[in-house]
Amino acid sequence: MDKALVSAVDGYIESLFLESDETLERTLRTSDGAGLPEIQISPAQGKLLYLLAKLVGAKRILEIGTLGGYSTIWLGRALPDGGELVTLEYEQLHAEVARSNLEHAGLGDRAQVVVGAALETLPGLEGGEPFDLVFIDADKENYPGYLKWAIKLTRPGGLILADNVVREGEVIDTESEDPFVQGVRMFNEMLAADPRAESVIIQLVGGKGYDGIALARRL
Ligand code: SAH
Ligand code: DHB
Ligand code: MG
Repeated sequence: MDKALVSAVDGYIESLFLESDETLERTLRTSDGAGLPEIQISPAQGKLLYLLAKLVGAKRILEIGTLGGYSTIWLGRALPDGGELVTLEYEQLHAEVARSNLEHAGLGDRAQVVVGAALETLPGLEGGEPFDLVFIDADKENYPGYLKWAIKLTRPGGLILADNVVREGEVIDTESEDPFVQGVRMFNEMLAADPRAESVIIQLVGGKGYDGIALARRL
């Protein structure tokens, strides 16, 4: 794949469909400044999440894997008045950076950052209102566990999304011993076989490389 061309087309898409946004730029600056890894979704992917959240009319959103809150802000902006977002993050530092960024984005009252290993904090969400959209984007080894929770916590007709399910194509390597690849492969197989959702994967290319996102509609 011609990486320079793919990056240039990403720039073209951004120039057409994304406005310069001081809040999002600040989020990237503060995240970088605090030493967080630069593994947030791309601007165009942020717009995609925002549009998908609006399309399902999401009033309650769950995110697994906050980082500095970049994707959280995109999703939070799709919420109507009175909407709510819960985002789960293992690292205390990431959570603090994200809280500050969400506050600056005017989402401090709508978005709640819950600190801890997601598999330990997810049970605390059971019994609450179901979610309209769940975005999975934390440690890939635990994607299979996150899928179980996403199915449990999403309303019928709701949307489950999972980032990084292609990983430069490594996902088709059946011999891979990379726990990241193994986690994602298991996730994809579980999702494909799950009768409680209808699903697909979309391959994504852009300035950040070659990856993909899984989309599942909860039945
Ligand atoms: N969604 C973010 C990127 C998330 S990166 C964005 O696009 O802007 C993945 C995040 O998951 C990191 O912040 C990492 O600390 C967090 N994470 C890793 N393991 C986790 C776990 N077990 N529980 C919750 N979060 C975890
Ligand atoms: C990486 C990328 C991601 O989008 C993510 O959520 C986690 C890790 C990575 O490139 O390592
Ligand atoms: Mg990701």
